[in-house]
Amino acid sequence: MQQGPSRTALAAASHRAAHQLLDAGAVFPDPLAVAIVGRPAADIAADAEANPAGRGMRWFIAARAKFAEDKLAEAVADRGVSQLVVLGAGLDTFAYRNPFEGRLRVFEVDHPATQAWKRERLAAAGIAIPATMVFAPVDFERDTLANGLARAGFDPARRTFFTWLGVVPYLTAAAIQATLETIARVPGGAEVVFDYSDPPATLSPEMARHQQVRAARVAALGEPFLSFFEPADLHALLSGLGLSEINDLGPSDVVSRLMGAVPGENAPTRGGHVIFAGTAQA
Ligand SMILES: C[S@@+](CC[C@H](N)C(=O)[O-])C[C@H]1O[C@@H](n2cnc3c(N)ncnc32)[C@H](O)[C@@H]1O
Repeated sequence: MQQGPSRTALAAASHRAAHQLLDAGAVFPDPLAVAIVGRPAADIAADAEANPAGRGMRWFIAARAKFAEDKLAEAVADRGVSQLVVLGAGLDTFAYRNPFEGRLRVFEVDHPATQAWKRERLAAAGIAIPATMVFAPVDFERDTLANGLARAGFDPARRTFFTWLGVVPYLTAAAIQATLETIARVPGGAEVVFDYSDPPATLSPEMARHQQVRAARVAALGEPFLSFFEPADLHALLSGLGLSEINDLGPSDVVSRLMGAVPGENAPTRGGHVIFAGTAQA
């Protein structure tokens, strides 16, 4: 990824686009999801249909985006959040359809190579960059988030919402800890939504097989999975940093609460989570 744009960012964006085309955006409607990928809709749909094993991931990616944007809307309406930081933004489109334009500044933080590629994709798709949106290039493994945000004109006095989707599994424990510390220390208060997976050794044999296939695929793209969490350990880490308001949805909650479906009899209880954590309000 250091040499070029993130391939997993393209994969995640393709899943959101396919969700519009094959599932009518049932969980997460995104009117820019297809345009930003930059391929004919028919090709995106055909690729997704040819890969039925990717269906679960497509719905999970839609669900995590819905959770993040629902929590953000709540934060803006109820808790006075006026800044959003999209960490590891990839081809996320929130900033370009921001319903809180004028009330919510958006900072997109990503690896410089991926960010340069995104700017090309936006231009090619004719998607305008709003005046309240700022690009903040940062390599999480080499530079600090605090530096990147300071360079971009971030105001630490304002309560801030961070989305950090599809990134934590690819980072080292040290990079995750450093980023969470920065979030927790925002003087104006902070909230974050991210996704993570239970450790592979704790998955059912079937889930473990799916996980191994995915791990091999992302490793072949040069972006191996590096981090997993036992939920209780993660909650202790977050609480210890002051991010003590926690709402963690495990696999069956993701299905019932975000997809509006009743989990099947053999629904997994271990696997992918989406989690909200915030500092207490002053
Ligand atoms: C799977 S993509 C997810 C993108 C987006 N959040 C989404 O859900 O579509 C992972 C993102 O993490 C970013 N990323 C991974 N390692 C990074 C690093 N060391 N520094 C900065 N960004 C990184 C990649 O550039 C990419 O945009």
